[in-house]
Amino acid sequence: MYCLNPIRWCAVAVSWGCLVCSAQSLRQEADHAEVLIGTAVRPSQLSEVNYASTLAREYNMIEAEDAMKWWVLRPDRASFDFRQGDELVRFAESHGMKVRGHCLVWGRYNPEWLTQGHFTTDQLSHLLHEHITNVMKHFSGQVFAWDVVNEALDENGNVRDSIWYNQPGIGISAKGTAYIEQVFRWAHEADPHALLFYNEAEGEGMSRKSDAVYAMVKDLRQRHVPIDGVGLQMHIPVDLDIEKRATELRANIARLTALGVHVHITELDVSVPIDTKGNSQAQDLKRQADVFRSIVRACLDNRGCTAIQTWGFTDKYSWIGSHSHGTRGDALPFDRTYAPKAAYRAILQELSAGRGSRELHTSP
Ligand code: G3I
Repeated sequence: MYCLNPIRWCAVAVSWGCLVCSAQSLRQEADHAEVLIGTAVRPSQLSEVNYASTLAREYNMIEAEDAMKWWVLRPDRASFDFRQGDELVRFAESHGMKVRGHCLVWGRYNPEWLTQGHFTTDQLSHLLHEHITNVMKHFSGQVFAWDVVNEALDENGNVRDSIWYNQPGIGISAKGTAYIEQVFRWAHEADPHALLFYNEAEGEGMSRKSDAVYAMVKDLRQRHVPIDGVGLQMHIPVDLDIEKRATELRANIARLTALGVHVHITELDVSVPIDTKGNSQAQDLKRQADVFRSIVRACLDNRGCTAIQTWGFTDKYSWIGSHSHGTRGDALPFDRTYAPKAAYRAILQELSAGRGSRELHTSP
């Protein structure tokens, strides 16, 4: 039950049977805890009052869910379309928010003119260099951090086949992470002030994949390749072993930050089963809150973990419904009516408790 008034959220915390008036928002608590709290954003929804007002009140960082990807920015070989990205930047600037960029190099979801263009390795190398340079220069001073490379490793930690690596690649295929090194160097040349991230899925815990990410970042850092951080996406199901996941996440964050890089939680959502009527179960939403709590706490407990970002913020707009063919969803802190869920309260409580408790593990 919520009393919605323009200044304060008053929430009846059922588990405590008392009125907990939270004068704070996620954003205000995150500012105190010295951590960025962000969300993926769809510019097409910014005209929706509840979407925009919740976003501005609760977050100090936003990232384009799709608006800065190749298939949006590059309608054809010869042109760049920055309109959606510029709209997102305008919103952020008008609300004092930081902007994360996503993503410059991904082997998936590229436009057909590129993937079907039968370009040579030299042509692809020029195309990719040109893309990185033009996009980063366009958003220079507006985007403080970029996911330069997204999801380049497979579940075993090997470099995935892709148009940029070996199909046909940019001319350094069969040389492991050499193309990744090259694009980070191009990115640093394009915008020396931006933080440059490698972003990965299913690499949050301790596994062959996360070991490979760690080894790659360690190697790049040792050879002074300009890489500043690792993004841990954290698209996770509610039915996981919370303690095991949190313990492994903490260990992974600790070893990555010990390399001197930032860790950002970049795409956090905790999906729950949905029935044929589109409804989730109360016990799943309670467990979901516990999962969010454990992840936020794991990040806050390491000062090198400098951002916590969900992949969207309202269940009204999430990739999961279509991705799961309607079997999973309700993965985010606000429900479809923009009412805060137990997950929201868990995040808020952890951010509030996080004030000043962020140990200096090894801040980048
Ligand atoms: O806007 C068009 C619409 O006009 C068209 O009718 C429709 C049918 O083709 O497609 C719509 O575009 C879709 C877009 O989402 C907006 O809904 C694209 O096809 C679809 O591919 C795109 O999916 C995005 C996906 O990345 C691929 O880019 C999701 O929104 C987005 O949440 C998802 O995000 C990724 C991260 O970038 C990387 N990590 C994993 C994460 C989840 O897959």
